[in-house]
Amino acid sequence: MAMASLSIVFALGIALWALITGFLNLEDSKLKGELVEYESQGWLREYASWDAQNQRFLVSFVEGGLGQIRMDGKEETLVKDEDYAGNATLGLEIDRPRNRVLVVVADLLGNRYSALAAYDMKTWRRLFLTELSRLGDEKLFADDVTVDATGNAYVTDTKGNKIWRVSPDGSEVTEIRSPVFTSFPSKLPLSLAGLNGIVFHPDGFLLTIHSWAGVLFKVSLDGSSVRAVNMSALLLLGDGLALLSSNRLVVASGMPSARIVESTDGWQSASLTHRYVGPMHRIATCATVKDDGKVFVSHMIGMGFPKKHVITQAIFAEVARP
Ligand SMILES: *[C@@H]1O[C@H](CO)[C@@H](O)[C@H](O)[C@H]1NC(C)=O
Ligand SMILES: *[C@@H]1O[C@H](CO)[C@@H](O)[C@H](O)[C@H]1NC(C)=O
Repeated sequence: MAMASLSIVFALGIALWALITGFLNLEDSKLKGELVEYESQGWLREYASWDAQNQRFLVSFVEGGLGQIRMDGKEETLVKDEDYAGNATLGLEIDRPRNRVLVVVADLLGNRYSALAAYDMKTWRRLFLTELSRLGDEKLFADDVTVDATGNAYVTDTKGNKIWRVSPDGSEVTEIRSPVFTSFPSKLPLSLAGLNGIVFHPDGFLLTIHSWAGVLFKVSLDGSSVRAVNMSALLLLGDGLALLSSNRLVVASGMPSARIVESTDGWQSASLTHRYVGPMHRIATCATVKDDGKVFVSHMIGMGFPKKHVITQAIFAEVARP
């Protein structure tokens, strides 16, 4: 979720409201499916990704850092990197073939610093920290990351509506820009978030979403082709993306908590097939698919004393199709 400063204020407002109105009791009785509830050190969590090899969730901390959810339901810090202290860690991608984690680093309030960091998953030693803001843009905010088959990383810039392409060792950064990314009007006020979630498709292209326009894009890896995926439904507030299979994509979002869209023509067009309504006051930010095929959705807002965050199994309902 890309939502810079304003949305943090918004999120905190909702959290407070939820506490006051006793939402906490309500949600316990309403949730279907599996629930992973964990005690956390921070109020805001952006990303949770399933690490199948080690059977755990890895999470990124909005106050900066990476952790894992332990079996006892507590969050344990794995990375706290002083070299970008004061910044948030946001999108997180497990790069399994290279046994590393890629994580987006950004300055939440000022939107001046953006970077991509990589850590070895065994030692948690940092492999690289590549500053993206050094290219000198005024408005930038790195948000989410994905990795292709050869180890290039692709990072969305939710303010600048472009994609940074970072070489496997972090040494080279190029940009994918296109007027197509901003050719659809924002359907929501304030234009808080543009390009947001991103995934690499095994057939060799990227899918990324513009949150405020609710439009999905298919992008070639070299950036020479950027096309909107033809859909009759808008995916407003679309945030983190996760492929369920080569033709089914989960889109986490503020409201509903997640949707499934399906394509039968290699993502030239797609249609909305399913929705999941979870604890919406906690604001879903990303989805991850476990090795058993179950989809889990992570939510931004922690609640209670001590603070608890939830990752919920998405129980999807079919959408009536025209
Ligand atoms: C983010 O990290 C960079 C690099 O260390 C630093 O210059 C900047 O001040 C940090 N931003 C904030 C808001 O602390
Ligand atoms: C998008 O899909 C609709 C309905 O199938 C079709 O009529 C339209 O021509 C398509 N647009 C593009 C640009 O492919």
